[in-house]
Amino acid sequence: MSYHTLLGFSKEPFSTSPDPDFFYLTKEHDMALTSILIEIRLKRGLNVVFGDVGTGKTSLSRKLIQELKRRGNMIFHIILNPSFVDERQFLTSLVKNFNVDLPSHVDLSKEDILNLRDVIQKFLIEKAVTEKQTVVLVIDEAQKLNLSTLETLRILLNFETNEYKLLQLVLLGQVELYPKIMQMPNFLDRISFKYTLNPLDVQSTRELILYRVKQAGYNSAMPLFSDEAFSEIYSYTRGYPRKITMLCHQVLKELIMQNKSAVDREIVRDVIAKEQQFMQASGLGMTKEASPGVYKEKSFDN
Ligand SMILES: Nc1ncnc2c1ncn2[C@@H]1O[C@H](COP(=O)(O)OP(=O)(O)O)[C@@H](O)[C@H]1O
Ligand SMILES: [Mg+2]
Repeated sequence: MSYHTLLGFSKEPFSTSPDPDFFYLTKEHDMALTSILIEIRLKRGLNVVFGDVGTGKTSLSRKLIQELKRRGNMIFHIILNPSFVDERQFLTSLVKNFNVDLPSHVDLSKEDILNLRDVIQKFLIEKAVTEKQTVVLVIDEAQKLNLSTLETLRILLNFETNEYKLLQLVLLGQVELYPKIMQMPNFLDRISFKYTLNPLDVQSTRELILYRVKQAGYNSAMPLFSDEAFSEIYSYTRGYPRKITMLCHQVLKELIMQNKSAVDREIVRDVIAKEQQFMQASGLGMTKEASPGVYKEKSFDN
């Protein structure tokens, strides 16, 4: 039996997948999501969200897609890994993923770049102007975009009517994206909304944990975490959502192993101590402040 069933959950509360149903709208995430949705409605073009690893960018993008699905008249596509080798590969992927209708004589692998841009422009005019739909492209891990792809995006953002942009673009990326954009003043100028996701404060950390616990089906009247447990989790994770979810996952397993009914400060401390022992034994060495997620972060790509 899995640990979450034992604790009375119907789903795993601290899975690391970016499930929109487990996405808690903290002040920060709410501000970003609401603003992006407004910008998209106004069709102002370019939105950029920056944030460290584990601050919730991918989760935010999934939530955004869920919201776009609920609104009608939207055509959208999300790129999870924008490592395109050249402009042709990027444009070709757009044509395929937006299901652009091509005349039978067009062979994507041989087509001239200018023709490919032209195909996309015609598609955008047809969808955004003639059919009055909103076309949205979301790019996660946007720090991986190379300068040539950014330049292509800039060109796509130039397609506009007198009133609005034909393509709505949402980039979410780690802070390395910033210097790349800085090199391109013409791109920088086009940003209509930009936002940096910061780690959560102690209150939002607590709310996020309680939200996930509730969404996972916990409905006992007895609190699952003590106040001290929350502060311990916050001081160790410094409010990074990924670290919070990873730590809480371990903490609930420890709760079962210790056969207790609620998470107290000792359980959290025990998990942290075990992590640190593991780190030392495997030569990964960590400072006391670092959290269980830190050494793994670079390998996460979702
Ligand atoms: N607002 C949130 N509510 C609930 N869980 C969140 C929230 N933001 C992030 N998480 C969780 O934190 C982890 C890391 O989030 P993720 O979106 O992958 O971060 P990033 O893409 O910035 O590295 C995931 O397990 C995700 O479910
Ligand atoms: Mg991510």
